[in-house]
Amino acid sequence: MSDMSRKIDEVTGHRRMRRYRASAWMRNMVRETRLTPSDLIWTMFLIEGENKREPIDSMPGVERLTVDLAVEAAKEAVKLGIPAIATFPNIDYAKRDKTGTEILNPDNLINQATRAIKAEVPEIGIITDVALDPFTSDGHDGIFENGEIVNDKTVEVLAQAAVLQAKAGSDIIAPSEMMDGRIGVIRQALDDAGFQSVAIMSYAAKFVSAFYGPFREAIGTSDFLKGDKNSYFLNPANPNEAMRDVALDVEEGADMVMVKPGLPYLDMCLRVKEEFGLPTFAYQVSGEYAMIKAASQNGWIDGERAMMESLMAFKRAGCDGILTYFAPEAAKLLNA
Ligand code: PBG
Repeated sequence: MSDMSRKIDEVTGHRRMRRYRASAWMRNMVRETRLTPSDLIWTMFLIEGENKREPIDSMPGVERLTVDLAVEAAKEAVKLGIPAIATFPNIDYAKRDKTGTEILNPDNLINQATRAIKAEVPEIGIITDVALDPFTSDGHDGIFENGEIVNDKTVEVLAQAAVLQAKAGSDIIAPSEMMDGRIGVIRQALDDAGFQSVAIMSYAAKFVSAFYGPFREAIGTSDFLKGDKNSYFLNPANPNEAMRDVALDVEEGADMVMVKPGLPYLDMCLRVKEEFGLPTFAYQVSGEYAMIKAASQNGWIDGERAMMESLMAFKRAGCDGILTYFAPEAAKLLNA
């Protein structure tokens, strides 16, 4: 044994960590975190019409789909082992107005898609977003009046919208607008309407973020959205305030909670999972997807590996699943 070997055994106390990494079978045997297709929730954009798909410039590989094609995508999701899809509508501008009334149309694009998917693909879970931004003419998540987003009036509308989504067949209502009190009020409205079995996934720790940019192109609000969402989303500098906001959602009856965006907020994933122990999800948002795709298209990183590494990070941070635009691509790789 060389002097150096003796010295290293001494400083490490004979614990040589590389023993865990020496062969593929050993690495596999001591693996702590696993990613499977059942961890992935497929986030999907909807458009009106039939048999149409529209690419989104800032999200290479993601398309807006008409309802009939969303049904086909849902069939593919089942084949891939993806448990649920989350839908986001891009409706004609003419249907958007100051108070987002289209959200209360029982036959709006979200509800149409839910009905169609439920009818043809009953084995997939459907998660529907509750927020006004796809429906308002200013792109804000709540009702904008006299220079502010009005909380209580907005919550009233959200609760009605949630019941309509449940009637259409949604399995999980996902309020994404960060109004105060909305989880409790929505829970009551669902229960009063007989939808005790419909779950609520709260966008519980949702931060103001530059990473939402491509999503706003995807749902068509980037052209006219004015101002910022600082008066209702969380300040990225405030993790303790975020924990208190999550605690309220849990008290009000959220069945599961979400942290959003994803990678820049992994600290929150870990804290939320440890503190509340609820099923905890991360939303790997549009800008996170766009960054990986753009760097990959430039040949600057290995896109597939970056995708899988980023998804694994959420599992490592305690998440039970990830809402991600990568869902079909990653599931295909995992099934290969
Ligand atoms: C708002 C909402 C946002 C996203 C989904 N729902 C944020 C926003 O536009 O302010 C972003 C998702 C993404 O970037 O992928 N209700």
